[in-house]
Amino acid sequence: MALLRKLARVMTIYNNKILSVSITDTIRSIKLDTTMLALRPTTRLLKCVTPRSNFARACTTTKPTRQHHEPTFQIASFSSTSFTQNASPEESYLHTLSSNPELSRFDAENDLRWIISEVQEHAKRELARGKLPPIEDERVEEFVRRRAEGEPLQYILGNTDFGPLTILCKRPTLIPRPETAHIFTQLSQHILSSIPPLTSASRPSEPLSILDLCTGTGCIPLLMAHLNPLSTATGLDNSPAAVSLGGVNAKKLDMHERVDIRYGNIFGPSKRLITRPGDLGGAKKVGMVVSNPPYIPYEEWKDLPRSVREYESPAALLGDGTKGQLGKGLKFYERIAEILSDLLIEEEELAGKGWKGIPRVAVEVGKGQARDVEDILRGSNGGVVGRTEVWNDQFGVERLVVGWTR
Ligand SMILES: C[S@@+](CC[C@H](N)C(=O)[O-])C[C@H]1O[C@@H](n2cnc3c(N)ncnc32)[C@H](O)[C@@H]1O
Repeated sequence: MALLRKLARVMTIYNNKILSVSITDTIRSIKLDTTMLALRPTTRLLKCVTPRSNFARACTTTKPTRQHHEPTFQIASFSSTSFTQNASPEESYLHTLSSNPELSRFDAENDLRWIISEVQEHAKRELARGKLPPIEDERVEEFVRRRAEGEPLQYILGNTDFGPLTILCKRPTLIPRPETAHIFTQLSQHILSSIPPLTSASRPSEPLSILDLCTGTGCIPLLMAHLNPLSTATGLDNSPAAVSLGGVNAKKLDMHERVDIRYGNIFGPSKRLITRPGDLGGAKKVGMVVSNPPYIPYEEWKDLPRSVREYESPAALLGDGTKGQLGKGLKFYERIAEILSDLLIEEEELAGKGWKGIPRVAVEVGKGQARDVEDILRGSNGGVVGRTEVWNDQFGVERLVVGWTR
């Protein structure tokens, strides 16, 4: 039976690597898609581990992948001081993890691999720096306990993959989701395909300036700037914790010269959003505005998994503002539409810099919100948006509303 289960997970071979497919995750994904909840991954490209489990985010409904680091260890090689009698270390940890109702047995096995891998890697890094690492068994036990209590794995391990980047995660700043990485990668590719190749003499004469509203960890501006080296990006958030984490992310990725993460409240004066503190030049409009704002209606937020409600900031999720506020979760899109013309340079000016015809605005949306958001953007103050499209995420869900001036 165990062999059959293993075989079922291993669906194909690619580049001599085994690609694991989590069937339980796929089923869960289908179930949860109907409720806009999280926990969605499907095919995973990992040799010995599928992605981190329990990744519930109301906004995007998935859990993150781990496609770049492959834990290489044997769970059985681990010793522990706190097993139940006669249980293997692995079984003891899995038993503890089973008290988290959001985890299937498969999820728990998967998370345990991630935990052990991270603990071992951390110890190696510390030793390489000449530092005495924490005792591995104790650290694994602590992480397993936190996971059993419902804390998202990304907060426990301190990071997540976001496209090609590793983004630091810290409670309560929202954990970046794979759909967000997917759609903003699509957007970057679309932009690059609309201009002459970056290697050619006819490439744009000036960098594209991107403004990301509600930036959280800074994942979107960091990804877009990474994928398009001829761009600069600013990420704004009104949460001091997010601004601080975003700044650390920019520095850690060595992108702080092109990506600026700072405080900004999108419901405050719009000019302030495009004025750098201490900048004598005054407000500086941008070529493109992007955002993955809070968009969960309160009625849906109430039913989200505990790991989301109790660990990720409600201010990062609730699309109508505070708890108890009823609505469709569209308040942030209405505000973005309202201030868009204050933020964007004219189409002619953008074309003069070499970025003719690219989208001017792109916002991630929750399930079922795309058509409303298209209407909101097209009715935008100043008539900035003349045409919109809705793009799907990797799971076929309408996820990004993209707007062009004409
Ligand atoms: C859904 S999270 C998105 C974070 C990040 N863009 C991502 O995709 O992972 C929304 C973010 O909006 C921020 N936020 C909430 N209200 C805001 C406001 N009035 N002005 C600016 N940012 C705000 C929250 O702090 C949170 O970091």
